[in-house]
Amino acid sequence: ERGEYAHYMLKEIHEQPVAVADTLEGRIAGGKILTQIFGVDAERLLADTQAVHIIACGTSYHAGLVARYWIEQLAGVPCTAEIASEYRYRDPVVKEGTLFLTISQSGETADTLAALKLAKDRPYLARMAVCNVPESSIVRESSLVLMTRAGPEIGVASTKAFTTQLVALALFSLELARAKGLDAARYADGVRQLEQLPGLIAETLKLDAEILELATHFADKQHALFLGRGTHWPVAMEGALKLKEISYIHAEAYAAGELKHGPLALVDEEMPVIAVAPNDRLIDKLKSNLEEVRARGGVLYAFVDETVAHGLDAAHVVILPAAGEIAAPVVSTIPLQLLSYHVAVLRGTDVDQPRNLAKSVTVE
Ligand code: F6R
Repeated sequence: ERGEYAHYMLKEIHEQPVAVADTLEGRIAGGKILTQIFGVDAERLLADTQAVHIIACGTSYHAGLVARYWIEQLAGVPCTAEIASEYRYRDPVVKEGTLFLTISQSGETADTLAALKLAKDRPYLARMAVCNVPESSIVRESSLVLMTRAGPEIGVASTKAFTTQLVALALFSLELARAKGLDAARYADGVRQLEQLPGLIAETLKLDAEILELATHFADKQHALFLGRGTHWPVAMEGALKLKEISYIHAEAYAAGELKHGPLALVDEEMPVIAVAPNDRLIDKLKSNLEEVRARGGVLYAFVDETVAHGLDAAHVVILPAAGEIAAPVVSTIPLQLLSYHVAVLRGTDVDQPRNLAKSVTVE
């Protein structure tokens, strides 16, 4: 039941501290991730993993794109993330030692399931799933499963499923990285970030009133542009997807470095630009994006943490709790969920049941 909340989506956004804590429950002890959560043969599997192919759709694909950065950055293992509907109709080259990894909230998405079935005939090391529904087809067809424990997600727009997917993928990335010789201090720091995440999300949810005010700036817009770099690029993609699916505002996400290569032509006072750049190593580049946007009469909304907010002369700066390389993409997702929610409510759309969409896409 949605209880005090006006919509399931809002309830599910606010459930994230608990959903993330549940997903971590019993998976970390004494500052270490329990290797056996990846199966009885996990140590050998991790040692043998020479590459990872991530396959998913929609929001789950965005989680996969974030994981790709972690897997390459932390584990030094080549990783691709691809949409299932593309993967299933091409001829991917699978080298020895490649792990196939699907991500799905429902476990029933037709394209993801079809890709998984195709993968059985390819020389993959194993077929692992990150999934939220234990009795689902994708779980049944996988040789290895890491469950997210988001609980039932009723709102069509995925929120807590996404953040718990990120947590499950972070557990995997860190454990793969440890098996590949990641520096112990960086590993310990990553695990600590995961343990702090429920508290950090709860703190970020306190931005709700500020985001509601911000939402009034978007309610009458037709378009919005989201920018991010590194792991925050897929976070920007997820922010744009949420906004378009529930508020019907046309939104696009670009890697910030691409702004000049085309989308800048669209920027004017009617095209707000949202930059997701907490603690970005490339903060100076954000500042130059900002000038580019401002010079075209555009309005820039920056979501940054307090370590970089100082001296940032954007029209609107939302300050997020500071977080490290693992926690930051989760934290910066929260305000974008709240933004799309409030914009949709202001526009009077059916937040939990957006037009034309189904919660589980079981046909291609
Ligand atoms: C967006 C959304 C969809 C799903 C996609 C995959 O909010 O919910 O994009 O993420 O249909 O669904 P699952 O994760 O069930 O495979």
